Amino acid sequence: MADADPLHFALIIGSTRPNRFADIPARWVAEAAAQRSDFTLEVLDLRDWPLPFFDQPASPARGGGGYANPVVERWRDRVREFDGFIATAAEYNHGPTAVLKNAFDTAYTEWNKKPIGFVGYGGVGGARAVEQLRMVAVELQMAPVMRAVHIGLEPSLGVMLHGKALDDYAYLAESRTAMFDQLVWWARALKAARDATAFADAIAA
Ligand SMILES: Cc1cc2nc3c(=O)[nH]c(=O)nc-3n(C[C@H](O)[C@H](O)[C@H](O)COP(=O)(O)O)c2cc1C
Repeated sequence: MADADPLHFALIIGSTRPNRFADIPARWVAEAAAQRSDFTLEVLDLRDWPLPFFDQPASPARGGGGYANPVVERWRDRVREFDGFIATAAEYNHGPTAVLKNAFDTAYTEWNKKPIGFVGYGGVGGARAVEQLRMVAVELQMAPVMRAVHIGLEPSLGVMLHGKALDDYAYLAESRTAMFDQLVWWARALKAARDATAFADAIAA
């Protein structure tokens, strides 16, 4: 499907503390994505999104919303635009960061029927946070892809303390490519299905 229009993915940077590690994997993912012709990747840095801790009167799953907070509405509008997502997944106390979970909670239909991949890091490559995020994604009617990047302690320390780059670890680059490929497959399939449903709804109306 070389001639297909490129898909539009967002890279969500899922931690916000001042000296976060997240910028390193985010840059590394964005650089590789820039070499691809099958999708574009736009960064959504949660530092730029002062979303309130969820304080709306009803769940976004309950309907269209129209929330009073303009940042919430802008966030939902941005999420709606994309065909798929990648999120950096720091592990805080064996779970995802609160700021990332809150960003998920703040929208609903905008996430539906779209794939997501994760770039985890931490003592065990963020595996526990990523597994929890996959369950959250399923509840949001997303398709979490099987392949993910897990940056464990050794490469994390290599990068932070010993002048290494993530590209020095070939297995990380391999998992990044596999995750990209799976995201593209699912994004194409789900976009076609979303478009077909929208068309069927339009002619039935
Ligand atoms: C509040 C907090 C809890 C943490 N808990 C874990 C943990 O459960 N497992 C783990 O592997 N690392 C844990 N860490 C270490 C983080 O993996 C490491 O600090 C990482 O760089 C955090 O991502 P960030 O720099 O993008 O915020 C924790 C860090 C913080 C700040």
